[in-house]
Amino acid sequence: MTEPNLAGQPTARPVHGGIRPAQLRELGLNPNDVLDFSASVSPLGPPRGVWEALQGVDLTAYPDPECLELKEALAQLHGLESDHILVGNGSTELIHLLARSYLSQPVDGAERSVLTFSPTYGEYSGAGLLEGAKVLEVTACREAGFAWDLGRAAETIANSKPALAFLCNPNNPTGVYLGRKNVLVLAQAAAQSGTLLVVDEAYVNFVEERWDATYLLQGSVRESVVLLRSMTKDYALTGLRLGYALASPEVVSRLARLQPDWSVNSLAQVAGLAALADTVYLSTARRTVGEARDFLVENFQRMGFNPLPSAANYLLVEVGDGSVWRERLMRRGLFVRDCASFGLPDCIRIGIRAMPDCRRLVEAMTAEVE
Ligand SMILES: Cc1ncc(COP(=O)(O)O)c(C=O)c1O
Repeated sequence: MTEPNLAGQPTARPVHGGIRPAQLRELGLNPNDVLDFSASVSPLGPPRGVWEALQGVDLTAYPDPECLELKEALAQLHGLESDHILVGNGSTELIHLLARSYLSQPVDGAERSVLTFSPTYGEYSGAGLLEGAKVLEVTACREAGFAWDLGRAAETIANSKPALAFLCNPNNPTGVYLGRKNVLVLAQAAAQSGTLLVVDEAYVNFVEERWDATYLLQGSVRESVVLLRSMTKDYALTGLRLGYALASPEVVSRLARLQPDWSVNSLAQVAGLAALADTVYLSTARRTVGEARDFLVENFQRMGFNPLPSAANYLLVEVGDGSVWRERLMRRGLFVRDCASFGLPDCIRIGIRAMPDCRRLVEAMTAEVE
């Protein structure tokens, strides 16, 4: 359990992947020569139609604060009405809106606390701590392939009544993906406890055997579930930032009240629309990820490392000392995520890129072990 930060001040901000220009300067590396395996986004780059669509954006006009057209396209995609959707400046903005809204005024006797399923994305506890909330953790069992005891998790929800429970599915960084029945058990526990279960599906479009979680928004637990999606990840719109929440109209309007106007800029809105119009992109991205993942797993095993099975577009790899491997590869212009901030200092996380880049990574790692 993480201590609450009762002053409501940030203690430590979450650690993220991605390359910082200041770090490149320090290392004397040219940004054009480096490959980023530390962020996990589509290996295809943005869909081609995005570049064309961006040319037509009127930069002198304010963006649509309601993201009307994008919401309509998303509503059609998911078979929901537009009032079930809130678009955000990346799903990170939505995580923070959820924390601000539900931790300042928990519903139905819920407590000012956040439950996370660890090890996981740091922004959930980070957003909770910013609100001065208590952070509770259900910790996965490493020996069981980072599975959680879901019966215990449901009990913790029932006993602790956290205002928010964040489940990352598939989970970052372990790649564990929970099926429909397991998530329903958690949603039912949440519904009985005044808890809002946030299912962060940032990476779900890279899962081969995924199930459609929007069915949770139509059943008896519909008021107690929020789904988060990241178009940043899906379509490699990493520099633009784009995400959305799917939830009941009540939850959506509660979050929308706190969102600053014009939060989602015009370039991101237009890029999102153009990306959705490309109906073959995601299946190509999944296939590309699948091939590269098989290649990496085979080669990591050959080198004597242990990559964990992953349903997502990243691999958690047991290498002995994550920070040492990060340094070694960084000197070769390859950036991987050292997993110490997840409590896994012996691991690195590799965001799966296209095959030529993965070959370069395997060559570099092979040279280091020889
Ligand atoms: C699990 C998870 N959710 C959300 C995000 C944030 O994505 P976005 O770019 O949509 O804010 C990340 C980014 O790393 C992530 O790993």
